[in-house]
This record gives sequence, structure tokens and C-alpha cells, in this order.
Amino acid sequence: MLKPSKTAFVPFVSVENMMRLVLHIGIEKVLTELAAEIEADFARWPLFDKTPRVASHSDVGVIELMPTSDGETYGFKYVNGHPSNMKRGLQTVTAFGLLADVATGYPLMLSEMTILTALRTAATSAMAAKWLAPKGATTMAMIGNGAQAEFQALAFKAICGLREVRLYDIDPAATEKAARNLAGQGLTVVPCKSAEEAIMGAQIITTCTADKQYATILTDNMVGSGVHINGVGGDCPGKTELHRDILLRSSIFVEYPPQTRIEGEIQQLDPDHPVTELWQVITGQAEGRRDARQITLFDSVGFAIEDFSALRYVHSRLKGTGLYQDLDMIADPDDPRDLFGMILRAEAASSTAA
Ligand SMILES: NC(=O)c1ccc[n+]([C@@H]2O[C@H](COP(=O)([O-])OP(=O)(O)OC[C@H]3O[C@@H](n4cnc5c(N)ncnc54)[C@H](O)[C@@H]3O)[C@@H](O)[C@H]2O)c1
Repeated sequence: MLKPSKTAFVPFVSVENMMRLVLHIGIEKVLTELAAEIEADFARWPLFDKTPRVASHSDVGVIELMPTSDGETYGFKYVNGHPSNMKRGLQTVTAFGLLADVATGYPLMLSEMTILTALRTAATSAMAAKWLAPKGATTMAMIGNGAQAEFQALAFKAICGLREVRLYDIDPAATEKAARNLAGQGLTVVPCKSAEEAIMGAQIITTCTADKQYATILTDNMVGSGVHINGVGGDCPGKTELHRDILLRSSIFVEYPPQTRIEGEIQQLDPDHPVTELWQVITGQAEGRRDARQITLFDSVGFAIEDFSALRYVHSRLKGTGLYQDLDMIADPDDPRDLFGMILRAEAASSTAA
């Protein structure tokens, strides 16, 4: 066979190499650096191409494509959401993504993004809480103790100074798993038997459950004044976690309104219900938390720019680590018009070799 040209190769970050990279840098440092990258990209929000993600729904889940570009670099993520997967021994969410050079359209990096999505979601949540949560918040209720849970807890520790996390899941095995994984990570971990017990004394409430239906993880009477709610699990049409009355009492902050109105908690509200875009808080164009009694809600659904930031972060951190493989991914004949000839030459080369 002919040898591929240098430009044929695209660095590929496998799951194994992503884990190695995270361990090499340190998970809390990754979360902190990732949050800074995401915040910096939110600060230049108007520059990006933006579109609600392209979703393909089925009875059991959704498969989505999430593209964006800052004019120099393009990125997209493929991600699924299948709440029933867990019962089959599969992940609810898996993902991979690609970064490309806008000038040539050639890919710069292909990467696993299942782990990276958990990291970027947690980093985004904690970055939003930095702007919205009550000052000095040290205790968080974590409702839903699945794949994302530990990442959320550690991001809030690293970025917001969280000291105690109170865990609850309808499946006690999930809570046990999260408590075991978080032991020795510098947080006080309190497993709880109900959502009510978990929110006791918590200034921040994270909901991160998976159910393909309108669920009520928090009812109105459970949410006292002054708390910050980080709503992560409601991220699809028909899939929400909070009672509508909570939304009506909250100041609601979102990533990209055209997408969040379809997918977020606010799908339960009128299409013109006022919301604040997080990037405007970061750039000083809108107010974040005003006072100690206000309920703030980050109605997180996950937006393409967060994945773009995460991919660029990984790309920048790969240099010198060797934590990637070169994939022969781009057909790149010496004469760009002679794609067909490349196949003929390959055939000739393989028959000579035989
Ligand atoms: N907003 C974002 O950017 C973003 C990113 C990634 C994932 N998500 C969403 O976050 C959710 C969690 O993802 P995951 O990968 O951790 O899923 P997972 O399936 O691993 O975990 C979900 C957990 O929720 C628990 N649960 C379900 N119903 C519950 C209830 N009523 N009360 C308490 N616990 C309950 C389940 O037992 C399970 O342990 C999913 O809905 C996913 O789509 C959002």
C-alpha cells in the first residue's frame, strides 16, 4: 500500500489517552482550567456561529450534533442521551467530537468526548455558580448520583470552594458509588435517604437525574429563598426536573435561549418568559445575583460553545504529551484533483508487493 502523506493524519485522543491526560494534569486543575476556557469563550459570545443543536429523537432517547465556529476554528460534538441505557449496562450519555481549521476545513483533532462532556458540563455548572450562587456557599445537594455526579462535586469544590456535598439518588447503589468515589477527595460527603434530607442546609442544589419524561425532582415547597439551583438533567423536549412554580419564583439564567426554550426547564413556561443569557452576566451587560433572598436557576442544557472550548483546551494541552494517535483520516493525494488516481496507485503498489 502507498504511505499516506503527512497531511492525511489527524491526532486522535482515545478514551485511554483522555484518562491519562486528566490524571497527568490533575482532575481539579483540568476542571479549573476548563472553566476558565469556557468563561473566556462566553466573554466573546457574539463572535460565534450559533444554532440550536440538531436533534434526532426516538422513543428511547436522542442523538444530537452540536456545531459551532469562532471564524478560525470549527468544532462539533456527536452526543446521545438514552436514560434507559443504564438498565442494559450502557452509558446514558456518550460522545465524541472534532476540531477543524476553518481556513482549509481540514480536521485538527478527533477526540473521545464522553469523559470530556462530564468535565465540561461540571466546569460550566461551577463557572455559572461562581456568578450566581450566594456568596460563601459551601454546601451542595447533589440529586442524581450517576455518571456526571462526582465531576459536578469536584468542579464546585475546585471553582466555588464547596466543602460539603449531600448525595441523593432513587437508586441507593448510585449514592454508594458516588460516596465511595468522592471519599478522600477533600469534601465532606453525606449520603441521604431523600431529596428533602439532601437539600437540608444546602445553598446550592444540583439536579442531575435522567428520566425520559417530565419529572419533579424538586417541588416548590422544597426550595427556600436565596438558593442557587443548578439544573443539569432537564435537557430535552419532555424531559424536565423542576416544578413549574419554582421557575416562576426564580431568576433564570441560560446558555442559548433558542435551544434552552426547546430543551430546558423553561420549556414549561411561555415562550417569551424573561431569561438572562449567562454570557451577558460575564461581560457585565446583565445582572447576576442581586440579593441574598433571590433564587437563581442555571437552566443548563449544554451548548456547543462549551464543547468547542473543551476540544480546544485538550488540543492545546496535548503538545509534548504524546497522548494521541495519528489517524489516517484525510485522503490527500499529491495532485489534489487526482483522488481516483490515488486508488489506482494503491492497487498498483499492492500488486507489486504481492
Ligand atoms: N446540561 C448538560 O450540559 C448535560 C450534560 C450531560 C448530561 N446531562 C444530563 O444529565 C443527566 C444525568 O446524566 P448522567 O450521565 O449522570 O446519567 P446517569 O444515567 O448515569 O445518572 C442519572 C441518575 O439519576 C438517577 N435518578 C433518576 N430519577 C431520579 C429521581 N427521580 N430522583 C433521584 N435520582 C434519580 C438514576 O438512578 C441515576 O443514578 C441526564 O439527564 C443527561 O442527559 C446534561
